[in-house]
Amino acid sequence: MNPGDIVSLAGALAITAALTRGAYGAVGILNRHIQTRKKIRFGFEKIRSGQIPTVSPQRHAIQSAEASPGIMNLKVVAREYETLDRSICSFYLASPDGRSLPGFKPGQHILIEHPGAQPGSPIKRCYSLSEAPENSSLRYRITIKNQMFESSQADSKDCCSAYFHNHVDVGSVVRTQRPGGNFTLDSQSERPLVFFAGGSGITPILSMLNSLATRRSQREIWLFYGVRNQKSHPMYNQLGLLQSMLVNFRQVVYYSRPAASCRRGVDFHVEGRVEIEPILRMLKRRDYLFYICGPEAFNGSLRDDLQRSGVPENAIHMESFGNRKSNFQPQTNKQELISPSSGSKIKVRFARSKMNVNWSSHVNNILELAEVNGLSPNHGCRSGQCGACQIKLKSGTVDYTQNPSVAVGKGSCLPCISRPKTDIVLDL
Ligand SMILES: Cc1cc2nc3c(=O)[nH]c(=O)nc-3n(C[C@H](O)[C@H](O)[C@H](O)COP(=O)(O)OP(=O)(O)OC[C@H]3O[C@@H](n4cnc5c(N)ncnc54)[C@H](O)[C@@H]3O)c2cc1C
Ligand code: FES
Repeated sequence: MNPGDIVSLAGALAITAALTRGAYGAVGILNRHIQTRKKIRFGFEKIRSGQIPTVSPQRHAIQSAEASPGIMNLKVVAREYETLDRSICSFYLASPDGRSLPGFKPGQHILIEHPGAQPGSPIKRCYSLSEAPENSSLRYRITIKNQMFESSQADSKDCCSAYFHNHVDVGSVVRTQRPGGNFTLDSQSERPLVFFAGGSGITPILSMLNSLATRRSQREIWLFYGVRNQKSHPMYNQLGLLQSMLVNFRQVVYYSRPAASCRRGVDFHVEGRVEIEPILRMLKRRDYLFYICGPEAFNGSLRDDLQRSGVPENAIHMESFGNRKSNFQPQTNKQELISPSSGSKIKVRFARSKMNVNWSSHVNNILELAEVNGLSPNHGCRSGQCGACQIKLKSGTVDYTQNPSVAVGKGSCLPCISRPKTDIVLDL
């Protein structure tokens, strides 16, 4: 950001204040919002009144899932696109029998188990709950960016987000685990808040903002939100409505590639990317809590800049949506990796699979070691954030390649970010 942009930023803040009761509060937007709400409520009422039929194999699946603790089969009761280009879509999930859903903290996610192309190897992906917990007792909302949107390969059963966009509709049943995750808002605190979001990274932050709005929070709240342009700008109306519900909320929208039709001061405020330095110069207080969620490069550079500026680590909360696909490419013959006699001297036993292998420096972590040996351990984010891969470490010790972002139970480990320090036996 150059000095001129700082002026723009200051101007933007004035604009956002005006927007609070101005353009965003316009009757048209409110009407659109009310229509949307009606559509969603209608979908849900259809379920309650039994108008959406439950197919018997699904009912069977529902009963089996109820037998497994922590697993739920939820029905899609509505879906709606959140961007003009239709790259991001919200799905509303409810219990098929209208029962209340487990509570959660703003910012938490659910882990979806999607059947995938290979029978018996479900694909697991995390999706943040994007509505406030206070508004989610009967239905969850998840908001999914189609990762194949710009790809010529527009559909793939193994790409969960594309599958949702292309095949999951009202009436579909979705298998999910209960909400979890550590990227949460402390609702009791009165400390001022600064949110940084990039693209679909707005989802957990939206849950936090909605929760603050339901509590009529008076906290000082800033949102610095980076998207490409108006076509890919999710939750445009909802973010506008929040401005009229939260008295001390200001948002500054950055478009990295605004089109000629994008209106500065209305759709967005700053052209370019979110930069910390001018923002910190403008923020007046010393006790802000910072929440960051966006692409990895966005998260990494913002956190580094905040730390360089002296913001203490415990004031920075960050969630990354992860490197979904493992970058793992065996550098060597797979046979060499899976041979029990190859690799280093450290021994890894996958007890339930009755398999002994040697640790190999050709893999990055224990999850990859298991996969290259033909096992399919449960996993979600592959980056220590969701806890989906957590397994019992029956003996031995591991080193973490990065700090886990979820609580790891005593005697357990997260194989996606750990390597054996000694011989280990895993309950896998
Ligand atoms: C805690 C947590 C919360 C999450 N919340 C959300 C959410 O609210 N909404 C949402 O849309 N996603 C969210 N994600 C990401 C989501 O879990 C999946 O990783 C994502 O949908 C991609 O999975 P896929 O099966 O569609 O694509 P994959 O089959 O895994 O990948 C398809 C293609 O997309 C690329 N790709 C995959 N993920 C990303 C990414 N994050 N950024 C850029 N390129 C990528 C891959 O490299 C590949 O080329 C969250 C992840 C975590 C860990
Ligand atoms: S896969 Fe998410 S913590 Fe390991």
